[in-house]
Amino acid sequence: MIDLRSDTVTKPCDKMRAYMAQAPVGDDAYGEDISINRLQDYCKDLFQVEDALFVTSGMMANRLAFMSQTNRGDEVITENSYHVNFFDSAPMSAIAGVVMNPRLSADGIIRVKDVEQAIHSKQRYDYFAQAKLISVENSINGWAGKIFPFDTLKSLYIFAQENKLSLHLDGARLFNAHVATNIALDQYARYCDTLSVCFSKGLGAPYGSMLMGTRETIHKARKYRIWLGGGIHQCGMQAAAAYYALRNNFERLKEDNHLAKYFANALLEIPGLSLNEREIETNIVQFSLNSSLKRDLNLLEQCGEQGLLLFPWLPGVFRAVIHRHITQEALDSAIRIIQNCILNG
Ligand SMILES: Cc1ncc(COP(=O)(O)O)c(C=O)c1O
Repeated sequence: MIDLRSDTVTKPCDKMRAYMAQAPVGDDAYGEDISINRLQDYCKDLFQVEDALFVTSGMMANRLAFMSQTNRGDEVITENSYHVNFFDSAPMSAIAGVVMNPRLSADGIIRVKDVEQAIHSKQRYDYFAQAKLISVENSINGWAGKIFPFDTLKSLYIFAQENKLSLHLDGARLFNAHVATNIALDQYARYCDTLSVCFSKGLGAPYGSMLMGTRETIHKARKYRIWLGGGIHQCGMQAAAAYYALRNNFERLKEDNHLAKYFANALLEIPGLSLNEREIETNIVQFSLNSSLKRDLNLLEQCGEQGLLLFPWLPGVFRAVIHRHITQEALDSAIRIIQNCILNG
């Protein structure tokens, strides 16, 4: 099987498993897990933040970022396609208690003018929803891994500060953006109030995300993590895997980004398909079937039967994510399978 559904399908390599096996552990409820503490300290240093909290998943990190920077009924301004809205709006409403104000943009980037429009799109009397948080994403999953422009992040942060809003950066794939831009990780952290990153995507660890921010915000997030049943005990082996990934697996992300371009160029040669973003910036490719094929072809099922897994984004729209288990040869086979399905489907 060539599995291009997501980079979350990556499995720990033998060296990572061996490293996990020897990890010292303790009870994190008492702050005594040596491996978790080491990972949190390492991230504090890497991102130059006051505090860092190891949590189960990207969704948990985003949830805690929202809960620790809003009150019930407050509003979060974001872009329609960002994960916090596209996949996660129900739990954000049901659990974090916020109202989403998602903006539809032409290019997947939310800018200061969009936030201003969002703020002025409703009455803001005391007893109505109050905008409290802006949430952005880098890289942008729903826009074929597009990189959120650093200057836009900076201007949003300045705007947020001037308007008593907070800014959260969902950096589930920030590492892919970082290796593509060479912008230092601490620079990203400097221009947001909270930042989350995932270890279980391209970096290839089996578990976990880090939520980072000020001591005060992370203190609240630690409380809410327990409220959500996310208190962890001897999780040091998972933290060790994340630490191993941070120390060893950045180089491969460059290769993932490079192979995604290779794959996108090959897809462009197939009649009946179009790329949703022609410029591939990181490790995600999104493509659509043209309208006549859309009716007649169940591409997902047919590719699956021939050994290729893709992720269905929307009807007729597919996502392919390149990751450490994918070689150039596997992508050549994937292209042949897609070509076959379109010619013979
Ligand atoms: C941008 C983004 N944020 C958050 C998440 C959620 O991460 P997790 O699956 O670890 O909860 C994902 C998952 O793919 C994602 O793409």
